[in-house]
Amino acid sequence: MENKNIIVLGGDGQLGSAFRFADFGYTVNRDSVSIVNYNDVFERLPEFKPDIIINCAAMTDVDYCEEHREEAEAVNYHGVRNLVNLCKENDIKLVHISTDYVFDNKHDMPISETLLFNPINWYGHTKAKAEEYIISNLSNYLIIRTSWLYGHSRVVNGIAEPARNMVNFFINSACDKAVVDQISRLTNVKTVVDITKKLLEMEETGIFNVADGGSTTPFEVAEYISSNHFQVSNWVEPILSRSLHRKAARPKYSVLSTAKLVNHGIIVKSWMDNLKGYLNEYTAASRV
Ligand SMILES: NC(=O)c1ccc[n+]([C@@H]2O[C@H](COP(=O)([O-])OP(=O)(O)OC[C@H]3O[C@@H](n4cnc5c(N)ncnc54)[C@H](OP(=O)(O)O)[C@@H]3O)[C@@H](O)[C@H]2O)c1
Repeated sequence: MENKNIIVLGGDGQLGSAFRFADFGYTVNRDSVSIVNYNDVFERLPEFKPDIIINCAAMTDVDYCEEHREEAEAVNYHGVRNLVNLCKENDIKLVHISTDYVFDNKHDMPISETLLFNPINWYGHTKAKAEEYIISNLSNYLIIRTSWLYGHSRVVNGIAEPARNMVNFFINSACDKAVVDQISRLTNVKTVVDITKKLLEMEETGIFNVADGGSTTPFEVAEYISSNHFQVSNWVEPILSRSLHRKAARPKYSVLSTAKLVNHGIIVKSWMDNLKGYLNEYTAASRV
């Protein structure tokens, strides 16, 4: 690992920014390498001489993807195809970040890496197609499936701004309503960075679910934030997801099982412990 040249794509996003803050790999933003641009992928990217490419680049706004299908497919599927073809030709390991939204509404128990996916929204469809292409064309890959990511910031047009995620939304909007009928695993971006690093050190390949411990709902997250953070109100009203009239459907239950990680000796902290640490960092930063 020490001698490996690691390039992180999508370096301005919330997860890409976490790789940069952790000083793990060399992060490259969309202006330097757009994964949908042939010259960027097949001419500029090889100039970095990567041994490992970590792909955090994606179109992640689930409702936007539902209404802009070609755009979403271009980035989340065709962009990944480009990377797979580059990696195949040049013996580069591909680490690709995927999502719990590749699953449907049929689950009520933690979902293992071996279960077949069946997405119910276009974002999930594009991510599932990318997974299929990776699996059928590469052997030296890691697909990291994660869920409900949150981190401090991302970079837009060269300027750092708060990352778009439910935690920052609940902190900043003094939220009084949150969805109660969606269950998944809230995950701090640092968990994904740390575990990716461990899996690479162990020279693992294949699919791994990576998420913080325990399942939750947006309502529980909002309540936790309201009772542990001084800036927000103390009362949150539970609402049903259908009352939000969102463009894209979300799975009601998409809890990723982390048993495979545990079998590899990797322990995940609970979402509450990690969120508590995040809120402390947030409070400390707002006092500066
Ligand atoms: N956020 C979640 O809750 C969540 C949950 C599960 C899995 N994931 C997965 O985790 C990964 C990272 O997500 P994130 O939360 O960090 O999302 P994010 O903040 O939206 O970051 C994605 C980054 O990719 C960039 N990008 C878009 N099109 C690109 C292109 N053609 N070439 C290069 N870069 C491009 C975006 O740039 P612009 O902003 O300029 O478009 C953005 O900086 C994604 O694969 C996502 O599917 C996320």
